[in-house]
Amino acid sequence: MNDEVLFTVKRWLTVPASVLLLCVATHMGEAQTPAAKMETTAERDARMKWWREARFGMFVHWGLYSGLAGTWDGKPVATTGGMEWIQQRVKADTATYAARAIPLFKPSPSFAREWARLARQAGCRYIVFTTKHHDGFALHDSKVSDFDAGSILHRDLVKEIVEAARAEGLRVGFYHSMIDWHHDQYEYARSQQLPHPLKGLDYPNGKRSHAIYQKYLRDEVDELLSNYGPVDVLWWDFSAVDFQGDEAWRASDLMADVRSRQPNIIMNNRLFRIPEAGFTGMGTAAISAQLNPRYGDFITPEQHIPATGMPGVDWETCMTMNSTWGYSEHDHAWKSAETLIRNLIDIASKGGNYLLNIGPKGDGTIPVESVDAMRAIGAWMKVNGESIYGTSASPFEKPEWGRCTRKALPGGKTRLYLQVFDWPKNGKLVVPIAAAKAPVARLLATGRRLSVSTSGGVTTISTGTTAPDRVASVIELDVADLPARP
Ligand code: GLC
Repeated sequence: MNDEVLFTVKRWLTVPASVLLLCVATHMGEAQTPAAKMETTAERDARMKWWREARFGMFVHWGLYSGLAGTWDGKPVATTGGMEWIQQRVKADTATYAARAIPLFKPSPSFAREWARLARQAGCRYIVFTTKHHDGFALHDSKVSDFDAGSILHRDLVKEIVEAARAEGLRVGFYHSMIDWHHDQYEYARSQQLPHPLKGLDYPNGKRSHAIYQKYLRDEVDELLSNYGPVDVLWWDFSAVDFQGDEAWRASDLMADVRSRQPNIIMNNRLFRIPEAGFTGMGTAAISAQLNPRYGDFITPEQHIPATGMPGVDWETCMTMNSTWGYSEHDHAWKSAETLIRNLIDIASKGGNYLLNIGPKGDGTIPVESVDAMRAIGAWMKVNGESIYGTSASPFEKPEWGRCTRKALPGGKTRLYLQVFDWPKNGKLVVPIAAAKAPVARLLATGRRLSVSTSGGVTTISTGTTAPDRVASVIELDVADLPARP
């Protein structure tokens, strides 16, 4: 080692370890953020704990499009599909869209409290809402934009929503769109795959500088992270195979900035669209069960529930109640409360979270069909929530009669929650586990003991023939010696 090197090493030894690690990471040319680099598995588990236990969140798509309600020129744009995309669907430029949509977007004074109350009543533990969707209209009071609730309504809707959610004890997440159909420097021609109402047309304002848009994006996110206290989730949306990540959004940098400001935040994977971030291509089906933590904390199956669990990967299925995210007065394809409850159970049985969407109207009121469904879920969760919160995936493949979740009990025991969709007609529920000691079974709703026998490699519970709950009746089964998963 020559003197110069020795001197450098000595100087480095006086630098705090965190700074040193940062320098090493940068030196190695790692795109990985220093925060991600230094986080141990235990630290990550601690950060993800509340989210993994929560299992159920409310998604909200709400913005200028909500007042248009899927109608343009007095006619339905369509009866299905995302009406938060109405500007793109009718190919309106931002001025035309804003002129029609702004007068119809009239948030009531109490809308946020109504959302938050409904989320809590439904049993949601967190709420994620659109701080900005693809139309570019920001719900906060932004200093870097004049296309925001502060400039146009003289209100900070983000503040109203965050305060209402916190008052109901909910965690809060921001959905934030990378795509922007308003900003005059957003270079939409750089992607063939990302939607834009003016796609194929020249930029109306001549040459654009995407770097200016990236700076704006960063400044707006900085506002969101600075002015509303702790933010629990950042839900980015979205990227294309041909335009994503560092090139499109300076994503690694953006994530590092977010983590430095909000070290406990949880972020999704949609700043990227590469296999290492869980994407195999375009389209909602093009996902795979993998995620390198440098690209986010969880993957985001959209409008579907993966067939099997994803061991080792945190995931959250986001889903609409009808077929649109943003409100449409023409979409009547509502899922039944039974479907939604069983979806939540199905997802928990596979170790995932359910982010269930509502699309409030222009005044912030929630469609009655969504209110009713959320209340029905809440009634079920009130009795059976213990079989959802803080559970992990079933130890066996889904049985014909329903689903199963599990929790560790003290002393090495396991509690299985059997969510029975189809109550056995012969009064015998067969559970595919071979326990040496007969497990103890109870109905979760009432605590009534049920008799259990074990033989032939299965456990059989005597249930009687009448289902206690039409949608899903839960039996808890305490097993002393659960065999390892085959
Ligand atoms: C898609 C859509 C968007 C919706 C989102 C929810 O990315 O572009 O409208 O907000 O999915 O997952």
